[in-house]
Amino acid sequence: MSPVIEVRDLRKTYGNGDTAVHALRGLDLIVQKGEYIAIMGASGSGKSTLLNILGCLDIATSGQYLLDGIDTGEFDEEQLSLLRNRKIGFVFQSFNLVPRTTALANVELPLVYAGVRRAQRRERALAALELVGLQDRTHHRPNELSGGQQQRVAIARALVTSPAIVLADEPTGNLDTESSREVLGILDRLNASGRTVVLITHEDEVASHAMRTVRVVDGKVAGVLV
Ligand SMILES: Nc1ncnc2c1ncn2[C@@H]1O[C@H](COP(=O)(O)OP(=O)(O)O)[C@@H](O)[C@H]1O
Ligand SMILES: [Mg+2]
Repeated sequence: MSPVIEVRDLRKTYGNGDTAVHALRGLDLIVQKGEYIAIMGASGSGKSTLLNILGCLDIATSGQYLLDGIDTGEFDEEQLSLLRNRKIGFVFQSFNLVPRTTALANVELPLVYAGVRRAQRRERALAALELVGLQDRTHHRPNELSGGQQQRVAIARALVTSPAIVLADEPTGNLDTESSREVLGILDRLNASGRTVVLITHEDEVASHAMRTVRVVDGKVAGVLV
């Protein structure tokens, strides 16, 4: 097995002096290629901070993060964003779609950043939308879609670049039971097709989709359930 995520003694402090918040306090984590892990923990325990660093949206204060064997600590912001675009698909609780544009354009966006040509962009975005069952909604705007459909567009956007890792921060947090089930089914299928999935949740039932659960307490990994 080869690790796709290797985190050692990761620390993240927001602010400084009296008002400093130590969000991560020496966190260690190894995720193997093809794994599906759930991260659980109380509100404020550092889960989103961790996921943002894993997704190269933020950098740690200290510690080491190897992504697919690459030491991200040596990268500047531009290199990190390239790495993020190539290797990571991010799914957020609040969908984070561009409001006034179509599902198709939203899904094409990461390919625009990656410099993919228009015809190929279109083809790949349509395939991604089909994978999440939205081939008949490609020209709808986010406000013309249900929450569950919006999250499926967000998942299509996350996977259109064929990322090695899909990171999902409470992806079902704003969804009803039926939409949650659909979204979790898609994540299951993504994992079955070989992608590594890291999912934050506070629901046991959601976590039960993962192969193992990592519990974060006060910015550290507290225990691992298999
Ligand atoms: N941008 C930020 N600036 C200052 N403090 C932050 C910021 N983001 C998170 N925090 C603080 O860091 C701690 C961990 O937050 P977070 O990672 O969002 O936890 P979780 O996702 O587990 O609820 C909390 O105390 C939170 O208030
Ligand atoms: Mg959070």
